[in-house]
Amino acid sequence: MYAGSVVGVCSITVTLVILCCLRKKSESDESVVFWNKKTKNVVNIEAFLKKCVSIAPKRYNFSDIKKMTNSFKDKLGQGGYGYVYKGKLPDDRLVAVKVLGESTGNGEEFLNEVASISRTAHVNIVTLLGFCFEGSKRALIYEFMPNGSLEKYIYDENQLIGSPRLGWEKNYHIAIAIAHGLEYLHRGCNTQILHLDIKPQNILLDQDFCPKISDFGLAKLCNRKESTMSLLGARGTVGYIAPEVFSRNFGIVSHKSDVYSYGMMILEMVAGRKNIDAGLQHSSEIYFPHWIHKHIELEGDLKLLLNMNKASEELARKMIVVGLWCIQSNPANRPSMDKVVDMLEGSHEVIQVPPKPFPSSP
Ligand SMILES: *[C@@H]1O[C@H](CO)[C@@H](O)[C@H](O)[C@H]1NC(C)=O
Ligand SMILES: *[C@@H]1O[C@H](CO)[C@@H](O)[C@H](O)[C@H]1NC(C)=O
Repeated sequence: MYAGSVVGVCSITVTLVILCCLRKKSESDESVVFWNKKTKNVVNIEAFLKKCVSIAPKRYNFSDIKKMTNSFKDKLGQGGYGYVYKGKLPDDRLVAVKVLGESTGNGEEFLNEVASISRTAHVNIVTLLGFCFEGSKRALIYEFMPNGSLEKYIYDENQLIGSPRLGWEKNYHIAIAIAHGLEYLHRGCNTQILHLDIKPQNILLDQDFCPKISDFGLAKLCNRKESTMSLLGARGTVGYIAPEVFSRNFGIVSHKSDVYSYGMMILEMVAGRKNIDAGLQHSSEIYFPHWIHKHIELEGDLKLLLNMNKASEELARKMIVVGLWCIQSNPANRPSMDKVVDMLEGSHEVIQVPPKPFPSSP
């Protein structure tokens, strides 16, 4: 009872903080000043972290951030939010420091990320070790992932369709591990976390190629009983966004929206190429989900089709059929993530081939 109400109060606090920022943003462009002056909001975040989180990430000031990144010397990547730098904590642990650009305004994504990820502790989700919140200066400090993002390993223009660079075995294990991470987020306890931007760029690999879900900027915390969600406009990434995220005609946004993105991603892992290449307009290009659906439905020989041996065939078949179930247009027809894990891990189970999925991304 007590724990429940504490979590409730915390969720409300975070929501209020977010709402405050949004309102302020729409009023004027003083959000930077707002964050500088009203330190009360900073107190709110810290109070939230203290109450709701067992291992709260440590707070650092900006000069700490500068020191740990060696004055932002080693840039690892870049996103809409700002840059990611390599860094080192005082105890010598390597970290990735995501510094949010000042133009990111209201701090909504920052708050989402701190709040969502602070609630997680799972081997397939990146760990947030600390953060910086000093006026308009904001940064997030994560464990360092030496092998970068999954994107680096799945696309290869020169490779035959369906011969993944990492090999089938590794591909299959990575797919299962990501499914476990996502299942954990969705299962939640009092709050469920929807990631809403699952894609290869947001899956990071550690030194043993163990995948971890990252980038919770768009994530939503939601009460388990809450049946509808309001999203402020469609966000996410073309090629992975579930149809209901950009048009309510397809249904409500839910954990099934992450399932869709996951399905698109594992089909790309199978194909070794993007399902939708924004740069290519030719209709003669094969849309892999349709192409593979046709062949698998006709019980075509995957071994011949994808040029693989018998052992790989079983793994590939599972990934394909599960992926095709995940990208069904109707959210109700997609499996939940726990079912995905079962289907992928099941040994001799023959999974039924789903109906043809329609291309639904804009
Ligand atoms: C930043 O925090 C460190 C301790 O982590 C402290 O030694 C230092 O004086 C602080 N710097 C500023 C500018 O507040
Ligand atoms: C993955 O990371 C490990 C540890 O840093 C490194 O030894 C290995 O070369 C990396 N593998 C690839 C393919 O980059």
